[in-house]
Amino acid sequence: MISFRNVFKSFGDTVAVSDVSFRIERGEFVYLIGPSGAGKTTILKMIHHEEFPTSGVVEAGDFRSDTVRTSAIPKLRRRLGFVHQDFRLIGDRSVYENVAIALRIVGTARRVVQRRVKEVLAEVGLLGRTRDKVSTLSGGEMQRVAIARALVNRPFLLLADEPTGNLDPGNAAGIYELLDRAHLGGTAVLVATHDQNAARLSGHRVLRLEKGRLLPEALPGSVPRTGS
Ligand SMILES: Nc1ncnc2c1ncn2[C@@H]1O[C@H](COP(=O)(O)OP(=O)(O)OP(=O)(O)O)[C@@H](O)[C@H]1O
Ligand SMILES: [Mg+2]
Repeated sequence: MISFRNVFKSFGDTVAVSDVSFRIERGEFVYLIGPSGAGKTTILKMIHHEEFPTSGVVEAGDFRSDTVRTSAIPKLRRRLGFVHQDFRLIGDRSVYENVAIALRIVGTARRVVQRRVKEVLAEVGLLGRTRDKVSTLSGGEMQRVAIARALVNRPFLLLADEPTGNLDPGNAAGIYELLDRAHLGGTAVLVATHDQNAARLSGHRVLRLEKGRLLPEALPGSVPRTGS
């Protein structure tokens, strides 16, 4: 469903991603971990076709980085949910508006928008904040809005970039619960984080990045490498 084959990505002299190959199957839950600057966000953006490999091929569903037409990319994006590291919410609009926007841009009928937005806001526990401006929410609540917006189109893959980065442990646990629930509902999930413990304790598959390179994956039951 997602495949990277010998992917390199450079920004000028900086090699952000170096010879990365992996696959993610339908419905999987995978962590992508690595220190700051390891290339996590760059990998997520290549899946989202916001960045393109310098060489190698990225596939996401039926879309391939080397053959995709620019005009077809919005179609791919509608089938992916992306929770960005910096949320990318509209602060002076309501919670409802921030989530509804993802449905309106694909021309969804008003009644359907209303029903689906309420449904997804209920799932993330924000039904009581529907009319509030996003700028008045806490960090954990904003993260929930970002997740609701990413899920509202029922994506086949949810990309979450450092979703608990600025949250206290209680709120972080709540966010991981939401991601697990999306996974149980059939959505594949890819979480980028430097939170090694969360990844290890989750029991999910873990991809480890270091300086743009993927380390060999630990086999099930073996002791994971801790890096140095
Ligand atoms: N648009 C860009 N222009 C130039 N360099 C970039 C760009 N995007 C990323 N980089 C560089 O690529 C490398 C990987 O960046 P990336 O954002 O993917 O790391 P990350 O693992 O997400 O880090 P963090 O945990 O801090 O978010 C870094 O050295 C970064 O400076
Ligand atoms: Mg990042």
